[in-house]
Amino acid sequence: MILDDGCALVSLLYEKHSDLASGIYGISEETTADIYLLTKILKEKRLNIPVMNVNDSVTKSKFDNLYGCREGLIDGIKRATDVMIGGKVAVVLGYGNVGKGSAHVLRNFGARVIVTEMDPICALQAVMEGYEVTTMEEACKIGQIFVTATGSRDLIRSEHMTKMPDNAVVCNVGHGDIEIDVLWLKQSAINKETIKPRTPTLFDSPYMLAMESEKFSHTYTIQS
Ligand SMILES: NC(=O)c1ccc[n+]([C@@H]2O[C@H](COP(=O)([O-])OP(=O)(O)OC[C@H]3O[C@@H](n4cnc5c(N)ncnc54)[C@H](O)[C@@H]3O)[C@@H](O)[C@H]2O)c1
Repeated sequence: MILDDGCALVSLLYEKHSDLASGIYGISEETTADIYLLTKILKEKRLNIPVMNVNDSVTKSKFDNLYGCREGLIDGIKRATDVMIGGKVAVVLGYGNVGKGSAHVLRNFGARVIVTEMDPICALQAVMEGYEVTTMEEACKIGQIFVTATGSRDLIRSEHMTKMPDNAVVCNVGHGDIEIDVLWLKQSAINKETIKPRTPTLFDSPYMLAMESEKFSHTYTIQS
């Protein structure tokens, strides 16, 4: 049996160790984005092991995604950066369960929260909660903390990062490295500093603090 979160083990099984598949009787998958992925593999008739969809249990998606991320996000930002949240402009990309928790906690810490959302109902929910809803093209110019929470690809790209104010904190609480163009950030960085363990050293020049592999780990300086 594979107990998976983010299809990490399932990917290994299908890509590198397919010889082991006959000894696997079941898979449980935890998170939203990878349920989409497994559903796609199922439709293509390539999924030959039964999968338990943990995410769609209401006590998972409406609790871990919402309340778990609500606590985890702020804990991660605080531990990694020590930045003050109050008074900052925070941009939350995606207003699903994870985005709702993220927006909520950032507002409770005193940030002015802006939401970007492609689903009109979720966007309307954000408006009804009092958040400003706009596009990333607008938000990237004024945000100081950016949080991706969509499960989709390429939300924060080079054209956004080059327009961000100095000292912008860019982080992901959604799906792996795919939401932020971390590769571009690494390749374009004119300076990079490891901030682990726990205490980041910040640059005087324009810098950006980015997350890598679901952990804050480096500061990157980019030319703006
Ligand atoms: N870090 C964690 O511990 C944790 C926990 C649970 C889920 N997740 C991950 O967080 C992500 C979101 O999960 P969720 O349960 O909130 O999903 P969800 O489907 O409830 O919400 C995602 C939202 O993002 C919006 N969205 C998608 N693409 C967008 C785009 N390009 N621009 C703007 N908005 C866009 C969708 O319309 C939707 O409202 C998933 O990748 C999930 O796997 C992370």
